[in-house]
Amino acid sequence: MQHPSKLPRIGTTIFTVMNHLAKKYDAINLSQGFPDFDPDSRLIDLVTKAMHSGYNQYAPMAGNMELREAIAKKYDVLYQSSYHPETDITITAGATQAIFCAISAFVKSGDEVIIFRPAYDCYEPAIALNGGKTISVTLDGPDYQVNWNTVKEAINDHTKMIIINTPQNPIGTIFSEKDLLQLQALTKDTNIIVLSDEVYEHIVFDGETHKSVCLFPDLKARSFVAASFGKTFHNTGWKVGYCCAPKALMDEFRKVHQFNVFCINHPTQKALADYLNEPDHYLELPGFYQKKRDLFLDLIKTSRFRFTPSKGTYFQLLDYSAITDEGDVDLAKRLVKEKQLASIPLSVFYNKEINNNVLRFCFAKTDDTLKRAADIINTI
Ligand SMILES: Cc1ncc(COP(=O)(O)O)c(C=O)c1O
Repeated sequence: MQHPSKLPRIGTTIFTVMNHLAKKYDAINLSQGFPDFDPDSRLIDLVTKAMHSGYNQYAPMAGNMELREAIAKKYDVLYQSSYHPETDITITAGATQAIFCAISAFVKSGDEVIIFRPAYDCYEPAIALNGGKTISVTLDGPDYQVNWNTVKEAINDHTKMIIINTPQNPIGTIFSEKDLLQLQALTKDTNIIVLSDEVYEHIVFDGETHKSVCLFPDLKARSFVAASFGKTFHNTGWKVGYCCAPKALMDEFRKVHQFNVFCINHPTQKALADYLNEPDHYLELPGFYQKKRDLFLDLIKTSRFRFTPSKGTYFQLLDYSAITDEGDVDLAKRLVKEKQLASIPLSVFYNKEINNNVLRFCFAKTDDTLKRAADIINTI
């Protein structure tokens, strides 16, 4: 029997390839986006405590109520924006599942979804599985700003959804208030749904503040916000995230979520609820990661790589055009083999042949790892 693939263009991803190579060559791994240090031991203790306190069976379908209440409180305090814990917030298996459910709940065959490239890799497959068509708006380096006229031209009667990601992986840019006002104006009087991937909301630098879609009332009314505790509390392996949206949107989302996973790991939800009620843990995150970014960039300032400091996320782009004219995939592979340093080539986040001579490095690493990586970068 032969079955045509529903995702014919998806093969082994560059993340798998680079991780495999990093292991094989015992390289310092700044490729995939996760910390090489543990979460706060207090949070781990809270999970143990939850397991000893009976949180071992199915959680409610929409998530542990204490966690939903803690999230609602966070939105009230940080953004003066209200999401009702009963109806507007659902706990998900990472932001990935939130994104999958939001897309699956609304995108049908023939619908178009606009995304901004270079883009995180989980949007397009979810759109394709639901019969939708991805429309890519390309952001060009070195500043990767959105040209809203291009977005306007991309919108038509088939446009069902626009996916934004701020701060944006892999480029480390953030949407300004002006960007979000443009998006709000463009979607006004349309039926377009906005899916805002805000997993790095607490990793914004240089005194800037995160501009969530929930700050803009007309935008909020048509938007899903996807978020991730993995990025915020250094536990990407727990895969716990959440999604917020007004009730009418969330009702449809939950119809999918209910039969996709039904509910998420219960003891981690209880622990995260207790931990989230101590705001310092996320309020100190910008400073924590800004120090790492600054350390990394200071250590490589005399290298032959060029850079604009990341404005958000824990990724830093480095431009190697002064070093070689090799393709970025070739260079990334060569650096693992010859220099024992793993990164991700930027071109893989596009949907077309492109070479900006840029590699992406993750700086969610111990200072020691960053120093050892910088020593290598300075020899390239
Ligand atoms: C932009 C972006 N969105 C979503 C995710 C997925 O988040 P989670 O691990 O919570 O599913 C990631 C993870 O790298 C990401 O970078």
